[in-house]
Amino acid sequence: MRQKLVVGNWKMHGSRGQIQSLVAGLVSGFEKREHTVEIGICPTNIHLEQVGKLLATGKNSIKLGAQNTYFEEKGAFTGEVSALMLADMGVELVIIGHSERRRLFAETDGLIAAKFKAIQANGMMPILCVGESLEERKQGVTNQIVLAQLDSVINAAGIVAFTNATIAYEPIWAIGTGQTATPEQAQEVHCQIRGHLASSDAIIAEGVRIIYGGSVNSSNAGELFSQPDIDGGLVGGASLKAEEFISICKSAD
Ligand code: PGA
Repeated sequence: MRQKLVVGNWKMHGSRGQIQSLVAGLVSGFEKREHTVEIGICPTNIHLEQVGKLLATGKNSIKLGAQNTYFEEKGAFTGEVSALMLADMGVELVIIGHSERRRLFAETDGLIAAKFKAIQANGMMPILCVGESLEERKQGVTNQIVLAQLDSVINAAGIVAFTNATIAYEPIWAIGTGQTATPEQAQEVHCQIRGHLASSDAIIAEGVRIIYGGSVNSSNAGELFSQPDIDGGLVGGASLKAEEFISICKSAD
């Protein structure tokens, strides 16, 4: 049985004050309710320390996550933050390959694979995002696109690396648009991803968590998470409101 995982991707949002009340809301909300789902939150790098300290004040098992990293350990890479630095800050999960990074910051499959390896080398879990554009879906090449994104990491890191990794299927057309993939559409791609991993290693494929992202909210989460190959969610906008995020997490229990 795969433990469900719900991760909040806060993107470039939050002031110190807003974060203080958001995390306080999450900590007290989860303290009151028992849950079996694994939960992570990914603030901006500049807020990691603040969030880490706030999480440590309460009784909760919320994991600290980051939204990106660089694959080199240290050196003359102005503006970058290494996986070593994230691990030192208490980070446990790192999102990589998000479509916003791929498109707006021209990140390539090769760069993403190098980041994947650096995250694992520093004892953290990568959350590898894959997903097709609306154009690609219309052309009927969704599976090809998604599996090619996945293959670039399998080829670089090896299938065994997926014993400690999560895959997030995020159709680009569903991100921040309010247009969620239907549970059937998402399940179909998740099943393809698992089947593809199984062609290299059936046991690893059965254990790897494949979470869905793209306009997840408290109204659609339950149905999405009840699909056989959907193991939770990567939540953007709806993770910025404590009650809404708690309610999404509850639908994964
Ligand atoms: P959204 O973002 O939930 O706001 O659509 C999801 C994501 O980009 O991870």
